[in-house]
Amino acid sequence: MTLQTRIHAARRPPVVLIAGGAGFIGSHLCDALLQRGNMVICLDNLSTGTIDNVRPLLNHPNFRFVEHDVRDPVEIDDDIDSIYSLACPASPRHYQTDPVGTMKTCVLGTINMLELARRKGARVLQASTSEVYGDPEIHPQPESYLGNVNPIGPRACYDEGKRAAETLMFDYHRMYRTEIKVARIFNTYGPRMLENDGRVVSNFIVQALRGEPITIYGAGTQTRSFCFVDDLVRGLQLLMESPASVTGPCNLGNPHEVTIEAIAREVLTYTESASSLRFEALPKDDPKRRKPMIETAAQTLGWRPRVELKDGLQATIAYFALRIAGDAPTLVPDIAPRRTGRAARSQLRIADPAR
Ligand SMILES: NC(=O)c1ccc[n+]([C@@H]2O[C@H](COP(=O)([O-])OP(=O)(O)OC[C@H]3O[C@@H](n4cnc5c(N)ncnc54)[C@H](O)[C@@H]3O)[C@@H](O)[C@H]2O)c1
Repeated sequence: MTLQTRIHAARRPPVVLIAGGAGFIGSHLCDALLQRGNMVICLDNLSTGTIDNVRPLLNHPNFRFVEHDVRDPVEIDDDIDSIYSLACPASPRHYQTDPVGTMKTCVLGTINMLELARRKGARVLQASTSEVYGDPEIHPQPESYLGNVNPIGPRACYDEGKRAAETLMFDYHRMYRTEIKVARIFNTYGPRMLENDGRVVSNFIVQALRGEPITIYGAGTQTRSFCFVDDLVRGLQLLMESPASVTGPCNLGNPHEVTIEAIAREVLTYTESASSLRFEALPKDDPKRRKPMIETAAQTLGWRPRVELKDGLQATIAYFALRIAGDAPTLVPDIAPRRTGRAARSQLRIADPAR
């Protein structure tokens, strides 16, 4: 950066690009960064995210939506200070629909974000995942654990794709001194999850609210630890704003571990639902235990999750109850493979006929 560019940058609000900004986590990040006075460029191909997630922001003077697929190189005229690289289908149902497309999103998408960061002199944060640990043999998982991933299984397009994305981040850092941050995100839940993407919390809540049986895969004894989206978004911001020497990888998740059956029973309690539990076969390569060690985040960022599972579940239940009652418009992306943003928009099924 030249001195002139630095002076200009110091006078304007920080410009942040969020790839995947119309998704579940990305849209909460858009909200949080706008509230802090940032300029936000939300870049998304609307494949698993929906424009509804950012619709209230579209008229905000500091917000811009760009429909684009990160597998294609991106050119943005504005100065950019930081890039959150979140664009990737996140639920197994979505990422397994087009596994080759998922791998390309992880690899080409990350390269395109890193190249953009290089051109703009921006720092870049990659949304990696606890899936890089695979079906872990040690518990809880510290960042130093190298993982137990099946490279040829049905989850590999995502798990290995995200591992390759981490590799790219560190290679750009070593080769080009790109400022990088790698967040390993553990299961996150909250409002704006999709109803139909097969993730545990949204599945359970929707089934309970509809009075349908709650589907548990396996015996329900496998564990997960669920982080509320507000906590996660705060952690991502703290990591992005940490000193340049902090590259990660950094686990972000809630270490409160619960069995899948226990969470189903909590959902039944808070929804006051009479749904029964239905046990089905465990999908291949489903991890048995998952719990983050968050000492790195606690010590370097001063971050710990604050939202109790009970409160987070109730907020999420309130959101889905509104959707199911029809108070919120329901844009349900189908899960067919798609390539371009424009095509993606035309494939969105508008489920609310009133819109
Ligand atoms: N939610 C979790 O529990 C969790 C856990 C670990 C990691 N993550 C990571 O966090 C990120 C966000 O996850 P999420 O839960 O918000 O998922 P999401 O599916 O709601 O959001 C992903 C967004 O990326 C967009 N996208 C997907 N492929 C794209 C492409 N090729 N080009 C442009 N945009 C594209 C989608 O349209 C969507 O808006 C993902 O990278 C995911 O791997 C999420």
